[in-house]
Amino acid sequence: MKNLTEGNITEAVIKAIEGTREPRAKEVMSSLIRHLHAFVKEVQLTQDEWEAAIEYLYDTGQISGPTRNEFVLTSDTLGISSLVDIINSNPDGGTEASVLGPFYIEGSKMVEIGTNLIGDSEGEPTVVSGIVRTFGGDPIEGAVIDLWQTAANGLYENQDPDQPENNLRCRMLTDKDGYYQFTTIKPVSYKVPTDGPVGRMLDLQGRHAWRPSHLHYKVSADGHRNLITEVFYEGDEYIDEDSVFGVRESLAIPYNLITSEEEAEKYGVSSPFYRVKFDFELEAL
Ligand SMILES: [Fe+2]
Repeated sequence: MKNLTEGNITEAVIKAIEGTREPRAKEVMSSLIRHLHAFVKEVQLTQDEWEAAIEYLYDTGQISGPTRNEFVLTSDTLGISSLVDIINSNPDGGTEASVLGPFYIEGSKMVEIGTNLIGDSEGEPTVVSGIVRTFGGDPIEGAVIDLWQTAANGLYENQDPDQPENNLRCRMLTDKDGYYQFTTIKPVSYKVPTDGPVGRMLDLQGRHAWRPSHLHYKVSADGHRNLITEVFYEGDEYIDEDSVFGVRESLAIPYNLITSEEEAEKYGVSSPFYRVKFDFELEAL
């Protein structure tokens, strides 16, 4: 096409992708092109600003690797990940989804129900349990609970060379009653990494990098949609200002302080300790 102008270039690009094989891919890419062009026109993007955007993407790729994904963190801190979660949540019910975050590792160790994950970790002992069930139905036996969380220093095991492999992360199968239980430390609020492009962006926007205390979960079971979510401590000081917009009211729960020596002995922890209960409801496929 000759004589491309601000007025006709968008249609020229849309025409160029007309042969896209998958209808959904064509729909998504056409819309993306329209929105990106509209955005560039609206703000009358300068050459310097375009270069800064390319540099951001380049740096994001450079700092990303097997144990850190700055693209995920970019999506999280711009609210895109949560928007996708919200759009794809079942409006009829079931446990709400929340961000995967950048620190998930596939294939962490499989442990028995009731395992104590604390090891050498410092922190407040916390016993977590609950039931996995079909939304509106029965408990699910053999559901896989995949858990990961920060240590007391606010770092995940794969961010911190001083933590042993698999520290404070595990997988566990529910029993015949859909029950899971593990002992860990109370997770702490922490800052998302600020030494990369996301940190520069947050600084420019005058935002803090804090996330309220949470446990990450991936829950899966045959015949059910996989659930990726987080369970938050409702009393955390950052509960209403999560830097990645992951908090939902239904996912914020109390940590009950138990002072009974007898109860502590039952779970093999020292007193006082926290007791946390959370049930997961999966959508049947
Ligand atoms: Fe996290």
